[in-house]
Amino acid sequence: MEKLLIRGAVPLKGAVPVSGSKNASLPLMAAAILAGGRSVLRGAPALRDVLTMGALLEQMGARFHFSPGDCLAEIDTAGLNRPLADYELVKTMRASVLVLGPLVARHGMAKVSLPGGCAIGARPINLHLAGLEKMGAAIELEEGYVIAKTRGKRLKGASLYFDLPTVTGTENLMMAAALAKGVTVLENAAREPEVVDLATALSAMGARIEGAGGSLIEIEGVDELRPYSHDVIPDRIEAATFAVAAAITGGDVLIKNVRPEHLDAVSIKLRETGASVKKTPAGLKVKAEGRPRSVNITTTPYPGFPTDVQAQFMTLMCTADGTSTINETVFENRFMHVPELKRMGADIELQGGMAAVRGVPALKGAQVMATDLRASACLVLAALAAEGESIVHRIYHLDRGYEQMEKKLLALGADVQRIK
Ligand code: UD1
Repeated sequence: MEKLLIRGAVPLKGAVPVSGSKNASLPLMAAAILAGGRSVLRGAPALRDVLTMGALLEQMGARFHFSPGDCLAEIDTAGLNRPLADYELVKTMRASVLVLGPLVARHGMAKVSLPGGCAIGARPINLHLAGLEKMGAAIELEEGYVIAKTRGKRLKGASLYFDLPTVTGTENLMMAAALAKGVTVLENAAREPEVVDLATALSAMGARIEGAGGSLIEIEGVDELRPYSHDVIPDRIEAATFAVAAAITGGDVLIKNVRPEHLDAVSIKLRETGASVKKTPAGLKVKAEGRPRSVNITTTPYPGFPTDVQAQFMTLMCTADGTSTINETVFENRFMHVPELKRMGADIELQGGMAAVRGVPALKGAQVMATDLRASACLVLAALAAEGESIVHRIYHLDRGYEQMEKKLLALGADVQRIK
């Protein structure tokens, strides 16, 4: 298994380009199911999850081609005739559940494996299923699979309310509603930029959608959609990770290919720590010196502070001057990184969904193990800041969400090496 060897305490300097958003690419790829023919997604990151979604579509009879050089994903769904998502692929990627809505809407049925357990909490899909049921689908659970069938020829528009603003749930049902008969209203919908990007592509396919980006989305179903050609938005979580990397190493980094408005909550909190975060025509410039000030954060759905940046921000607070509280409200059990950070000398106390982080003057290099995607990013940040040498094990988690992380870090002057 591959690891990263990092010698820390080197301030990062230079410019780094952010890749296309993974979390926007996955629903966009699933949306290709809604139309017969060749859809083109530009800017998709060369990541395992993107290839997994491609493999899933191929298993269904679609054709998938990805050119990593120009980040072009082509999906031809003309031959898609097997609306089935097998356990073998689904178990490796939770977001596979995004094929459920489009399959039922276009093919009248779908059999999709239930995503398995996950390191960051139970992560159920009950809200996805309740929505489809209200739109007239018959849902059965059989041997670990969800089998969903439309009762008539098509799904029917419905008024749906989400108990929690689920991101993939909103995306799944928005796609399903695009081909349903009648109007669907999604209340308490997720407002994430990835939802907006999907709505933009669906609209270009001929869907009638209003309100994406707000908590009330209205979709008037149409009879048919055409394939899309779309540029995916930049990855705001990767951008935020590099912003924290600049701050934690006392560096000076220009983050390119970024939509600064997607990073407002993170930028505000970084400024409170004493870092300078400036929007420039070339990108977001992040600069910091000395120990950060302690700052409290609470993760909430967009536009609040993203849960996907919680671990990275906590790492920054490990060396802050003072104590900060990190309140995780989106996922239970998303503190798997805490014991690993403690191995590097962090002083963190956990109480339910809350962590109290007492800043120490410096972290110390150690061997640590990644447990999930964002936890692995935080360990890389900790190692970049720490005195001495660290080895981050199980970086396959990191590779799921960060395209060429160590190459980008090397270009910023970090002392990092991938070893077997
Ligand atoms: C997406 C992101 C993930 C991010 C998360 C929250 C993708 C591919 N992944 O995940 O990176 O961390 O949003 O911003 O876009 N819930 C239910 N029932 C459901 C669905 C969700 O109770 O049917 C709960 C979850 O357990 C969680 C909360 O709702 O507590 C939000 O989860 P959700 O927004 O659905 O996360 P994902 O879409 O899986």
